[in-house]
Amino acid sequence: MADKNFELLDPASGKKSLLPVRQGTVGPAVLDIATINKDQGVFTFDPGFGVTAATESKITYIDGDAGVLMHRGYPIEQLAEKSSFTEVAYLLLYGDLPTAQALQEFSLSIGHHTMINESLLRFFGGFHHNAHPMAMVSAVVASMSAFYHDTMDINNPRHREIFAHRIIAKIPTIAAAAYKHSLGQPFVYPRNDLDYCANLLHMFFAVPCERYEVDADAAAALDLLFILHADHEQNASTSTVRLAGSTGANPYAAISAGVSALWGPAHGGANEAVLDMLEQIGSVDQIPKYLAMAKDKSAHFRLMGFGHRVYKNFDPRAKIIRAMCHKVLAKLGSADNPLFELALKLEEIALKDEYFVSRKLYPNVDFYSGIIYSALGIPRSMFTVMFAIARTVGWVAHWQEMISDPSMRIGRPRQLYTGPVQRDYVAVAKRG
Ligand code: SDX
Repeated sequence: MADKNFELLDPASGKKSLLPVRQGTVGPAVLDIATINKDQGVFTFDPGFGVTAATESKITYIDGDAGVLMHRGYPIEQLAEKSSFTEVAYLLLYGDLPTAQALQEFSLSIGHHTMINESLLRFFGGFHHNAHPMAMVSAVVASMSAFYHDTMDINNPRHREIFAHRIIAKIPTIAAAAYKHSLGQPFVYPRNDLDYCANLLHMFFAVPCERYEVDADAAAALDLLFILHADHEQNASTSTVRLAGSTGANPYAAISAGVSALWGPAHGGANEAVLDMLEQIGSVDQIPKYLAMAKDKSAHFRLMGFGHRVYKNFDPRAKIIRAMCHKVLAKLGSADNPLFELALKLEEIALKDEYFVSRKLYPNVDFYSGIIYSALGIPRSMFTVMFAIARTVGWVAHWQEMISDPSMRIGRPRQLYTGPVQRDYVAVAKRG
């Protein structure tokens, strides 16, 4: 329901539009412009959707200026301190924190969907050994629609729930298979006696010829990283999943589209790009040179891990991850990690630099996560895959919210056309 109306007047034609203003439970109100083309014969123009609400949602709220992030109303700081990734997954999917029994049933259901079809496992043999893991993961996730025909009716709530549990359970197994393939090592099957993150580490690092004990601190660090990456409102990859899903495409195809969108260095690929950048900078004395490049548009260089479309304050996740970095590096004996020291120095210098201060370019979630993944023994090529594992929960929650909304329509943005006006075809013999 609209709380009030904005009046839009075209002074040339005198045409007036009353645009309903809708207020959410918290955050900026929105202007409902659905009638603006009919009333005024115009479209709105907002490349990159910087100020455009593409949907209504009840899942995640971000206040970029205040550095606030909430999932279903729970502040990320409290979830990071008190919850687990599996519990946050339940919260995002079902809207409330689970009872002990509901959490146990959910964990068991996830645990019983961790294996993938053996034919799907053989897909990995077709990839070149140096294929990027994100290429393998996006391809195999899309291929799941060739296997799981029993839950493809997107209008059936039970099918949607089984799909949700299935993809959340299998994405770590697919990620581990991609990793093992890149190493030329045999695939390690999931173990249902381990929790989500311990199972992932086991599938990554166990080998058939010796016992592997999961480091509890490493599993805890991973669980926290996954909580921090689980969802983030209408970011590029989530919006991709919503747009792909709005056509009625099967959910595996929609999630695969999200994986592909996340891969870009401006988005989830930034965690890998941060480590590449730190390695390129090499030492503290080189920082001024690279800061100068970041300010010089012609250098086409950006400080990876800095800046955010929404956060114009510290990314609350980066604050939590920064503290975790110190703990993990101290525990895993790499407290003198040169890349971490360089990252801290770069952060210190950039946060005092007028160019970054005036543009409110703070470290984001990707600035530190790669350093922790490195400390956990996870290779750089797998960093964005780790992000995709966690974000699958958010993608699924948003897909569910969209598909179960009876007012859902196919997404179809419009444009400002500035190409040639109509002209007639010219035979090739007469072209200049
Ligand atoms: C994620 O949306 C989400 O929620 C994403 C995410 C999630 O959880 O889903 O939070 C995860 O993707 C985090 C962002 C990871 N990406 C990076 O770290 C890549 C480096 N950052 C940027 O490329 C950039 O900051 C973006 C893409 C994150 C945001 O881009 P915007 O909002 O389009 O900002 P912009 O490009 O319009 O920049 C505004 C100004 C420009 O300078 P001026 O034209 O005003 O002179 O800031 C400058 C930019 O040149 N700028 C940077 C910079 N980021 C922006 N300059 C140097 N280094 C940077 N990193």
